[in-house]
Amino acid sequence: MDIFVTGATGYIGGTVAAKLIAAGHKVTGLARDDDRAELLRDRGITPVVGTLDDLDILDSAAHAADAVVNAANADNPFAARVLVDALRGSGKRYVQTSGTSIVSDNAGGQGGGTVFTEDTPLNALPEKAGRIATDRMILDAANDGVHSIIICPCLIYGQGLGVRPHSPQIPTFIALAKASGAPRRIGVGENIWSHVHIEDCADAYLLALDRAPAGSFFYVEGGEASMLDVNRAIGRMLGLGEATETFPFDEALRAWGPAMAHAMSSNVRVNADKARAVLGWDPRGPALFDDIENGSYRVYR
Ligand SMILES: NC(=O)c1ccc[n+]([C@@H]2O[C@H](COP(=O)([O-])OP(=O)(O)OC[C@H]3O[C@@H](n4cnc5c(N)ncnc54)[C@H](OP(=O)(O)O)[C@@H]3O)[C@@H](O)[C@H]2O)c1
Repeated sequence: MDIFVTGATGYIGGTVAAKLIAAGHKVTGLARDDDRAELLRDRGITPVVGTLDDLDILDSAAHAADAVVNAANADNPFAARVLVDALRGSGKRYVQTSGTSIVSDNAGGQGGGTVFTEDTPLNALPEKAGRIATDRMILDAANDGVHSIIICPCLIYGQGLGVRPHSPQIPTFIALAKASGAPRRIGVGENIWSHVHIEDCADAYLLALDRAPAGSFFYVEGGEASMLDVNRAIGRMLGLGEATETFPFDEALRAWGPAMAHAMSSNVRVNADKARAVLGWDPRGPALFDDIENGSYRVYR
C-alpha cells in the first residue's frame, strides 16, 4: 500500500514509517521543511513538504494515498478532520494517534487510579476534552465510508527507528536527576503510568492497518510502573542509588509547564487486552526498567 504518514520525522510516526517500509509498503511523509524532507528521503520515505496548517496539502496527500496514519498531533482537530474528510466514502483505512492522558487524574503523585479498558467510561479533565471529541469524530467517520481506527498509546519508551530517538518523559527525569544529584519524583511518586515499548507500539499500528475493524479504538500498553520506581531505575542507571527525592509540584510546574507537570504526577492506567485479542498484538520489547538501566537510556548518563 501507499501510506501517507504525518509526524514522519517524529518518534511514533518515524518508527511506524520505518516498520511500514520494512513490511514492503511505500510511505509518503509530511515534513515541515526541506531539511526534514531530506531526512525522510534518507530513510526511503517520499516527503511532502508542509505543516498541519496546510490543509490543502494534507487533503491532496490523503486523497493520493491508499491509507493514512496521523501521528503528528493528537490534539489538532483541523488536520484530523481534513484527513478523514479526504477519505470519506472511500473505505480506506485511517489510523489516528490518540494518547492515554485522556484518562489522567491530576493526582499530584498520589497512587491509585482506575485501570481503563476501552469500555470504561471516560471522566476526562477539561484539558483533554478536545482530544476526546476529535477521537469521537474519527470513530463516527466509520459510518461514512472511512475505515477509521484509533491507537491510544500510553507512556512510550525505548529507541525509536526514525529521526527522533526517544520520547521526552524519561530523558526529562534523567536530566532532573543529573542536575539534582538524586532521582526525583513529583510528590510521593506513587502515581502509576502504563507504558509500552516504541517498537511494540508501532507494531500495533501495522496490525491495526491490517486487521482492525472500522470504527475501533485500542489502548496499547505492555506494563505499568510507578514514577517512584521509574526514578529508582534512573538512580541505578546514573550510579546515584535508589534513594529518591521529592520534586515539589510547584517546581515541576515552573520547570516543565502544566501539561508535563500534570501528566507526570497523574495516574494513567490502561489495559490492552482488546489489542491482544482483536489484533493478535504481542508486545515483546525490552522491559522499561531494563531499558533504562542497561539499554537505550544509557546515552543520557
Ligand atoms: N511519545 C509518547 O509517549 C506519546 C504517547 C501517547 C500519545 N502521544 C501523542 O502522539 C503524538 C505524536 O507523539 P510523538 O511522541 O511522536 O511526538 P514527536 O516526536 O514530537 O513527533 C511529532 C511529529 O509531528 C510533527 N509535527 C508536529 N506539529 C506539526 C505541524 N504543525 N506541522 C507538521 N508536522 C508537525 C513533528 O514534526 P517536526 O519533526 O518538524 O517537529 C514530528 O514529526 C502527540 O500528539 C503526542 O501527544 C505521544
